[in-house]
Amino acid sequence: MADLTFADPPFNLSKKYRSYDDQRSSDEYLDWCRRWLQELLRITKPTGSIVVHNIPRWLTHYAAFLNERADFRHWIAWEALGMPLGKTLMPRHYGILFYARDKRQQKFYEIRHPHRRCRKCGVLHRDYGGKKHGLHPFGPLVSDVWSDLHRVKHASRRDSHPCQLPETLLERLLLMTTDAGDVVVDPFAGTGTTLVAAKKLGRRYLGIEIDAGYVAVARERLSQTQATSRIGEVWVSQVRGALVTIRDCDWPYLQAYYAIPASAAAIEAAPIAFDQRLAPMIARSGPTLTETSATPAMRRRKTA
Ligand SMILES: C[S@@+](CC[C@H](N)C(=O)[O-])C[C@H]1O[C@@H](n2cnc3c(N)ncnc32)[C@H](O)[C@@H]1O
Repeated sequence: MADLTFADPPFNLSKKYRSYDDQRSSDEYLDWCRRWLQELLRITKPTGSIVVHNIPRWLTHYAAFLNERADFRHWIAWEALGMPLGKTLMPRHYGILFYARDKRQQKFYEIRHPHRRCRKCGVLHRDYGGKKHGLHPFGPLVSDVWSDLHRVKHASRRDSHPCQLPETLLERLLLMTTDAGDVVVDPFAGTGTTLVAAKKLGRRYLGIEIDAGYVAVARERLSQTQATSRIGEVWVSQVRGALVTIRDCDWPYLQAYYAIPASAAAIEAAPIAFDQRLAPMIARSGPTLTETSATPAMRRRKTA
């Protein structure tokens, strides 16, 4: 049984996959979708989550089906660049439907992302007005609108797949719904983004993919991936050493790695920085910090 089932199916938009024909009638496509959604429900644990990524048009049908069989949690809008289609509003988001198999039992962690700041001057984008005193040093809780994770657009960063997702998207979902050792299943694995994210975060994974070419790419990516996306004892999502998503409950542990200014004004003016004493260790071993790189404060807490 799975702790998280995540599906990113073909969108029936005539995309050029190597094997799959992405042009079916709406009825045929939706009938097929209901069949695999039923299978996701069957294999998800009572504590588990079901997450499906698609365009809003199809997600409305998925929601009608899932609402009868699981507990709705969120419609997450993942912001994306749109193309004018004519006589419609410009599509500006993909939807991520998030369900609990049973909301009374579901495993769920609140997550945070770094404050959005001016690229040039480092000052916070958002004006918190009179509430600045409560500013979290790292960043706000993640909402149901995700604008900070970008699609893999450039062909040189993609593994010859027309719709590869960014690893950070999956890592966010994994940190939100699973623990290390939990099982993640992706029935449309493509070039293996979900599996790579799961491996990086110490989760177990199972992927299904119809195309042998994509399977080969996924296997190659997995062979290059280590379960190392952590700081000390804590799993985090990061890109080139910069944290993208953390769990709220891990902040008391992670804050030992930062020099945190006392005043909200200083947090407003510039991002908090990793403690300088850790910098040589980060440079030597990549973004993963080993036990020996813990600060004295962290070592004291561990032995207490
Ligand atoms: C939108 S893509 C998934 C991309 C993936 N999330 C990634 O980041 O690489 C959908 C995938 O489903 C695969 N697919 C289509 N029908 C399938 C089936 N019946 N069983 C397994 N995979 C299938 C396609 O070959 C395609 O790679």
